[in-house]
Amino acid sequence: MKGTFPIDKFKTLRTPFYYYDVELLQKTLDVVKTEAGKYDYNIHYAVKANANPRILSIIASNGLGADCVSGGEIQASLDAGFPADKIVFAGVGKADWEINLGLDNDIFCFNVESAAELEIINELAAAKGKVASVALRVNPEVDAHTHAKITTGMKENKFGINLSQLQDVIAVLQGMKNVKLIGLHFHIGSQITDMSSFQNLAIRCNEIQEELQEKGITVENLNFGGGLGIDYYHPNHLPVPAFETYFSVIHKLLKLRPGQKVHFEPGRSIVGQCGNMISQVLYVKRGETKNFAILDAGFTELIRPAMYDSYHRMENITSNETIEVYDVVGPICESSDVFGKDVELNEARRGDLIAFRSAGAYGEVMASQYNCRSLPLAYFSDTI
Ligand code: LLP
Repeated sequence: MKGTFPIDKFKTLRTPFYYYDVELLQKTLDVVKTEAGKYDYNIHYAVKANANPRILSIIASNGLGADCVSGGEIQASLDAGFPADKIVFAGVGKADWEINLGLDNDIFCFNVESAAELEIINELAAAKGKVASVALRVNPEVDAHTHAKITTGMKENKFGINLSQLQDVIAVLQGMKNVKLIGLHFHIGSQITDMSSFQNLAIRCNEIQEELQEKGITVENLNFGGGLGIDYYHPNHLPVPAFETYFSVIHKLLKLRPGQKVHFEPGRSIVGQCGNMISQVLYVKRGETKNFAILDAGFTELIRPAMYDSYHRMENITSNETIEVYDVVGPICESSDVFGKDVELNEARRGDLIAFRSAGAYGEVMASQYNCRSLPLAYFSDTI
């Protein structure tokens, strides 16, 4: 089954572009709020997944917080209406100006990834006469069973603090005057569909908490990062991801201390299914053994297939002809500019529109101007 799109309107627009189903985004947010609300979980949307200003303002107006990884994302979140006291700031390489922006706005928390960074936050906060709230990002050594380029929770990673060094870093932190330990932060990877990874994370968190308690250390906040996956193969089947299972799995296993608050940073699961990248067939090249559908979109508009071998469902939304098999490629002068090999599409002709489904996360936001191309525009179902 194909998605439904306003095709007559699409035919008047210059391709390639992004198209967002605002109703689905709202439905997804409603489910997130209901399911997280059951356990009083705090949700900070991971802005990196999609920082389109309209998307940000819809999410902000639903009362979520923001998870940022740069000064630019902090500013975009504030501009979109996210309250500073719901902003968390992660990232292994926070520049001084970015830390200062966080301090000036009194953001909720810095997710600190190394002892070296902790020292600088302490120094910069001291210069402003402030105390920065920090959570330590710990590598819990839980396998996320996902693509190597989006796994992060293992040992000796560029991200986070090794479990074996956690207590030393806490000891250093406790000697500092201008930082305050308010939490622990974990993020094991992205596009995780195997719930056992999250179960293992909750269990590991219990173990870490017990070890810390023996030293008399408890924290107020536990942040489990993002990572819940979406169904790229069947975008119409269950367009709202499994938030109910996700939160309940954590809730069942996690042992909370009195007053402890739980946080999450979902990105892909909130915006992934509401976005589509729409492009046009420029040429059909018939080779000796293969047909190539050459599109006007390339990895400049959607880099995930080239970068992570990711699958996006492709649909010829302007044809009901019989199915043919194509290698679907873009116009960029790189042999990696391939969206998919042996893709089944209704017979493609010049001018046909091809929809790339499930492109709302890490799609538009990762677009580039390589080959002097223009950045894609975005349209929304309620204003198109
Ligand atoms: N929190 C932290 C600390 C993260 O590093 C990430 C994603 C998230 C939250 C949000 O994770 P999500 O819920 O979206 O899985 N560009 C890649 C994904 C990179 C994810 C980076 N970190 C892709 O297109 O698959």
